[in-house]
Amino acid sequence: MQTAVGTDLQLALNLLERGQLVSIPTETVYGLAADANNEDAVLSIFKAKDRPKSNPLILHFATLEQALPYTSEFPEVFEQLYAAFCPGPLTFVVPKSSLVSTLITGGQSTVGLRFPAQPLLQQLLELLESPLAAPSANLYGQLSPTTAQHVLGQLNERIPYILDGGPCLHGLESTIIGLDNDQVVIYRHGGITAEMLAEQLDYTPQIKTQKESGVLTSGMVKHHYATQTPLFLGFKSGEQEKSALQITLGPNEQISGPHLILSQEGLLLEAARHLYAALHEADAMQLDQIYVEPFPNVGLGKAMNDRLSRAAAKFSE
Ligand code: TXA
Ligand code: MG
Repeated sequence: MQTAVGTDLQLALNLLERGQLVSIPTETVYGLAADANNEDAVLSIFKAKDRPKSNPLILHFATLEQALPYTSEFPEVFEQLYAAFCPGPLTFVVPKSSLVSTLITGGQSTVGLRFPAQPLLQQLLELLESPLAAPSANLYGQLSPTTAQHVLGQLNERIPYILDGGPCLHGLESTIIGLDNDQVVIYRHGGITAEMLAEQLDYTPQIKTQKESGVLTSGMVKHHYATQTPLFLGFKSGEQEKSALQITLGPNEQISGPHLILSQEGLLLEAARHLYAALHEADAMQLDQIYVEPFPNVGLGKAMNDRLSRAAAKFSE
């Protein structure tokens, strides 16, 4: 199967309605989408990504009104967060309704609902009858894509079409939240930070790990979001023999040798947008090692440190 890349919305629509897979641009990372109401199409997502079926998919909608039939309960506090942050990089985990197949939820009784802000994708979602089930458009465990070229690099000949919406604006996956004892909890850090959520609530939402919640999220799997080249959090030492690239948040005059700067002004928002692209670029250089400076552990820095420590975990055992 040839994989085409383009901006043809009608083609994307036709393919999805015929049960084919299309990679879609979102404001976070590129997704790999199928008609959520077509079981065969949903099944082919798992095949194309080599993803275990126990790992649930999230559903994408244009509006909350479209999403409500897919949940048996959308709590009031989520309505408030929806009004504050959507469309945007926030995924709500809620009880599913009978419209949602257990293939999508990995057998669980809850489903993730998301309302992306990317304009081309919003047009597509408005034209479709069904929601789109879509994980990130990478092979399981590998780096998430933030450009159409990144998707092509991993899924070439596995899918028919990549809808090219340009580089993703946020560059990090959505924040996933749920409700636990009537309190909002975070399952995965992402574009909407804990600090931003706390401004809307009168408390700071707690982080729930897989063990505590009994829920499987790839954001909770220890090895994930990984490069092919061994990756480490920290700084390379000056006198090592191995070839290594250093990635830093901002300019740093003490670094010698190959060096990638994520934001000339040292801004976390810009660094988040560039992080995956920098890791893709670093991987393509075929060096022995990649070092990434740990980010300040606040706001988006938390989400980035989380992804990097999962990537690094693959190489530390
Ligand atoms: O920004 C994003 O969220 C991107 C774009 C494409 O929308 N999507 C994305 O999907 O990152 P994925 O599948 O790579 O990560 C979604 C995570 C998965 O780790 C999955 O386990 C978790 O969401 N998830 C899905 N349904 C869930 C549920 N009912 N309860 C808990 N976690 C869930
Ligand atoms: Mg993913």
